[in-house]
Amino acid sequence: MTRTRIAGTGKALPGQERTNADLAKLVDTSDEWIAARTGIRSRRILEAGRVTSDLAAEAGRAALEKAELKASDLDCIIVGTVTPDMPMPAVAVSVQQKLGAGACAAFDISAACAGFIYGLSIGDAFIKSGQFKRVLVIGVEILSRIVDWTDRNTCVLFGDGAGAAVLTATASDERAILSTHIYADGAGVPWLNIPAGGSAEPTTVETVTQKRHLVHMQGKPIFTHAVKNISRACLTALEHNGMTAADVDWVVAHQANLRILEGVSERVGIPLDRFFLNIHKYGNTSSASIPIALDEALTEGKVRPGQLVVMGALGAGLSWGSALVRI
Ligand code: ACO
Repeated sequence: MTRTRIAGTGKALPGQERTNADLAKLVDTSDEWIAARTGIRSRRILEAGRVTSDLAAEAGRAALEKAELKASDLDCIIVGTVTPDMPMPAVAVSVQQKLGAGACAAFDISAACAGFIYGLSIGDAFIKSGQFKRVLVIGVEILSRIVDWTDRNTCVLFGDGAGAAVLTATASDERAILSTHIYADGAGVPWLNIPAGGSAEPTTVETVTQKRHLVHMQGKPIFTHAVKNISRACLTALEHNGMTAADVDWVVAHQANLRILEGVSERVGIPLDRFFLNIHKYGNTSSASIPIALDEALTEGKVRPGQLVVMGALGAGLSWGSALVRI
């Protein structure tokens, strides 16, 4: 049976750092509050003049290099993002052009912080079906351009970044994606959204003045559902494969809030020291957070080839999911 292997990962992070102390100069907050409530100490901000597809292509190039493949080998590019270069067309087509990938399929998916898990699931399905053999999945967000830098409830949480994984077909299940599970519940729309700029509220001077083209969030319900649904999705992945928490070497989950991950650790029954953590450095980079974390975990030699990794994420929608991977 054809399976999907993660043949290479890559990341791209802007050089400009914005620490909690920097934010305390912008809004009424403090390093103590942000670190205690979220685990975040710093985040990266993309330089003016660079766009989402620049960072996405940089991460994609790094992943291709690790997979020892060329862009022209790709059959498909999938980009998970809620911060495209422009509303139309897809970021993926600009990535295709910047990578020099040739006439392959290229499209975006909108699943917010679950974008990479959704992309992995779709790429895996394409490969298992035999339609494609090599798929590049990218999670990328330039959230600094859609947050309200005067709103302390949201601006302290997010950062910019991109992560990527090259998926290839394999006949072996020694190193392969074992399963993916993806879900959504539209009851969560009011808790996290950008109200204006779509068909519900087309952009006008008023919507811009009222900052309705920026992120609006109610943190508490998101927090509660993130703990519950990420845990449930990870446990479903294990049950589906006849495994238990004891089989898992590493959890590489969405880096939204350290306290969310502590809650997941408790519910899933996997100690926090088996969670790869980099939220302190980058904040919440939404769909980019899992592939960035995976790339760092592999590069640092923490996650080693052949180990069992469970991934889980939840974001706006609500959209959430999990993946179990023999990496
Ligand atoms: N600095 C200081 N005070 C702040 C800040 C800040 N940056 N932000 C909010 N506060 C204040 C609020 O104004 C409020 O004050 P009030 O009680 O006087 O009205 C108070 O702090 C709220 O405090 P708590 O209730 O203790 O906050 P909580 O523990 O819920 O933490 C947080 C808030 C961090 C937003 C949390 O709810 C959270 O992380 N939710 C998940 C949101 C999330 O991760 N969104 C990202 C996208 S979805 C995803 O990735 C899962």
